[in-house]
Amino acid sequence: MVSLIKTPDTRNKYWKPFEGKTKNHRKIVEVTYRSNANSDYTEKIQELEKNFDYSTNSDYYWTEPEQSLLYGTPLYKAASPTQKKALNHLYWVIQNNNTAASEVNTIIYNQVTAGVFEAVGGYETLCRELELETSQEYHHIHAFQKIGYKTKVALLGKKRFSNSLDGKSNKSTQKNSFFSQYQDSALRFIAKMMLKNKDYCSSRYLRELEKKNEFFPTPTQGSGGRFAPPSLLKFFTLNWGSSPFLACHYYALRYISNALLKSQEHPRSQYFKKLEKQGEFISAPTAVSHYHFLDESFHSTTSQIVGQDMYKDFPKPTAYEKFVANVAVYRAQRHVINYHGGLSSGLPARCFHDDSFFMSFIYQLLQTPLFEMSSREALYWMEKCFCQEHEGFEIASKYHKGFVSDFRRFFDRLDYLWPVNREMRLIDSGDSVAEGFQSSIKTFKQFSSSVTCGNG
Ligand SMILES: [Fe+2]
Ligand SMILES: [Fe+2]
Repeated sequence: MVSLIKTPDTRNKYWKPFEGKTKNHRKIVEVTYRSNANSDYTEKIQELEKNFDYSTNSDYYWTEPEQSLLYGTPLYKAASPTQKKALNHLYWVIQNNNTAASEVNTIIYNQVTAGVFEAVGGYETLCRELELETSQEYHHIHAFQKIGYKTKVALLGKKRFSNSLDGKSNKSTQKNSFFSQYQDSALRFIAKMMLKNKDYCSSRYLRELEKKNEFFPTPTQGSGGRFAPPSLLKFFTLNWGSSPFLACHYYALRYISNALLKSQEHPRSQYFKKLEKQGEFISAPTAVSHYHFLDESFHSTTSQIVGQDMYKDFPKPTAYEKFVANVAVYRAQRHVINYHGGLSSGLPARCFHDDSFFMSFIYQLLQTPLFEMSSREALYWMEKCFCQEHEGFEIASKYHKGFVSDFRRFFDRLDYLWPVNREMRLIDSGDSVAEGFQSSIKTFKQFSSSVTCGNG
């Protein structure tokens, strides 16, 4: 990783910080950095990962039962106690696989944007905090992947599911066609034209990549992969790495990932505390979630302070910057928070890129030694789970409502946003339970006919 703490070589001659206005957020960043640097949550996660062994944790729930795969469905109700625990463990694995993918995005964009703050100058503590967060994300990803892998192998066997649960479809690979290269150059030209007087603050991270003739990193998974296809994501990367306002705005978007994660991890942390209070055994994954929740609370504070306050240090955004910021929030509403419309049956939060991938995973899962079903039995139970109303939709709706009010509170404060973005109108339009139910039936029908036709 390129170190971000360096004396700025392109100090901005156009911008002077207005100390009176910036005092408060500077103080919060100082306190956050100090508390984060002095905490030992990441070390605890590393220790738990190192000693993780599935068999010592297999007899326990890792979170409240409602955070289980297929919870609330008829299949869940008919499952044995061992199967129920396995569904609870698999949900932990799936959700954290998704978290790990989103944290790869964080690693990239922390460096892209810190490069801007470094070039502007005067934000050394923030840059240190971002560097610390980046190094923590490496450890988090490692722990999620290692615990997830050991669990998958123990529950499902090595061969059958070696690459599944990643929550991605084959569609996510980047096509390097002539058209996409042309599109890349056109979007890059637009961004450079519109930001041409911003050379003073362009990110060192991006400049170094350009010097080496390397492409900008373009994640195809996690929140970044859902947010935009590769060409468009590169365009946003260039913008986030070339303007102080847009670099700050990136943190408003990062807050979305923080809040989605919080909606899953806060109940896990509560579960940890409940067990601790009762003096009961705490499984290693439960403890990992608890310490991760604590590490991430520092990251959420950073997103909040940079996205909501620090952008005011800089000159008011140009019409172009406002446009880019608004398109980004619009896309985030549609593709990151509420993608596919409606809610998922069988997952308290959406973790898969598309429902057909999720169906295919469940279909295979039901035929493993864990459930011992034939293909016909698997389809029979899947129809009961995906084509009939059940409690699972209500649970998904409860999680959805939790973060909708959180997002509305956050984005309402950003006065440069269009009303559709400030009020987060896209994330709670219509009846999400009914929409989720309809989309579930449609996907199941398509999946079932592809299996019975021998293409599944
Ligand atoms: Fe993390
Ligand atoms: Fe984080």
